[in-house]
Amino acid sequence: MPAIIVLGAQWGDEGKGKATDLLTTTETIDYCVRTSGGHNAGHTIVVEGEKFATHLLPSSILTEGTTSVIANGVVVSPEALFREVDALEARGVPASERLVVSANAHVIASYHSTIDKVTERFLGKNKIGTTGRGIGPAYADKINRLGIRVADLFDEKILLAKVEAALDVRNHLLAKVYNRRAVEPESVVEELLSYVDRLRPMVIDASLLLNRALDEQRTVLFEGAQATMLDVDHGTYPFVTSSNAVAGGVCTGAGVGPTRIDRVIGVIKAYTTRVGSGPFPTELLDADGERLWRVGGEVGVSTGRDRRCGWYDAVVARYASRVNGLTDLFLTKLDVLSSWEQVPVCVAYEIDGVRHDEMPMTQTEFHHATPVYEHLDGWSEDISGCRSFADLPKNAQAYVLALEEMSGTRIWGVGVGPGREQTLVVHD
Ligand code: GDP
Ligand code: IMO
Ligand code: MG
Repeated sequence: MPAIIVLGAQWGDEGKGKATDLLTTTETIDYCVRTSGGHNAGHTIVVEGEKFATHLLPSSILTEGTTSVIANGVVVSPEALFREVDALEARGVPASERLVVSANAHVIASYHSTIDKVTERFLGKNKIGTTGRGIGPAYADKINRLGIRVADLFDEKILLAKVEAALDVRNHLLAKVYNRRAVEPESVVEELLSYVDRLRPMVIDASLLLNRALDEQRTVLFEGAQATMLDVDHGTYPFVTSSNAVAGGVCTGAGVGPTRIDRVIGVIKAYTTRVGSGPFPTELLDADGERLWRVGGEVGVSTGRDRRCGWYDAVVARYASRVNGLTDLFLTKLDVLSSWEQVPVCVAYEIDGVRHDEMPMTQTEFHHATPVYEHLDGWSEDISGCRSFADLPKNAQAYVLALEEMSGTRIWGVGVGPGREQTLVVHD
């Protein structure tokens, strides 16, 4: 199985870190690749009770023998990169030895996060609820052809010229619209140059590396960040991130053709969460929502914000199956649902009195969608110790199989706890 994609099927935080870690430790994965987003991600891995969180780095950074790759589609803050590397090295993980970075990845400089934060403040009640990490402004510069790429850091003259060009526009915005002090290009260049010596040995042509690896039948795992419903094209625009988190984004973000992908695994929670603003039809603002939040420990890994919680949405699951061409689902956090007498699952939406079995065509309709629920029988047993599908109580098995049927994609595995070993295989 040479090329596998793992991606989020909902609004993020589905357990992609756990799924990636599981695959990198149970199969031989030669390369694990981040292809989009930046340090807005927060992926949790729990190894023998010890918790790690990765942000910009692939979760494989914990695994010996796997090369972790940051590909061209990622936006890289050198400051965040080395902060994460240093924190892992302080815990005994030789992160810099395992990591390579694409020369063509775009750079997040400090002015990008400044602009991200002031833009959000300016938007007021219409804010997106971004992570404030400069992701949107860095991608905007990329599309506006005013971006700085990793390779630019190795030529001081080019770097200064590019930073000046980018700030020429941005400083007008900062000073005249947002009433902030203009940023000095020289100080940005000085800061970026301070990372060059550490960065240089890591920089490679990621597309060449990965295509050669696939030619040699090596196994490459692409670890998605963010998720389908946060994708800039296919998510709940404008309440999305600024990159393509769907399977197609992996190909552009890595320089690997779609014909090379063998398997696309969508990670999906047994219920739903979302961080930041935007529509969320199955959101619960009652005691059930509070209980999902508490039992599920639904607090953001990157920003510490509380996640909004709601029931499983099979319309979202079918949509994710379709736009990503999913071959499998990995269902996480089934254990959180133990002890509800009945578990509602959204099977369709009602919009202005009309039933919609598929995602409505327009954002306005989606804003008005109310869930049509089917109530499945719950179970009261603690399932966190189950190690095979047959160990699950009958109603939990039936819940998984019902979700599989409704979602249109087979469920390969089920998570019953945060630990690597707390996983059941449904279909091998
Ligand atoms: P990611 O961004 O998709 O990697 O997900 P996050 O790490 O942001 O959030 C997922 C959270 O759920 C983390 O705290 C994980 O440790 C935890 N988790 C993952 N799978 C399971 C599971 O099957 N059961 C439980 N209880 N927790 C899980
Ligand atoms: P992982 O990889 C959940 C959300 C933010 C905000 C929107 C835009 O851990 O699943 P941005 O800073 O990207 O411009 O913010 O996207 N968001 C995430 N939500 N999980 C993530 O990553 C997210 N990355 C961004 O909360 O609503
Ligand atoms: Mg996360």
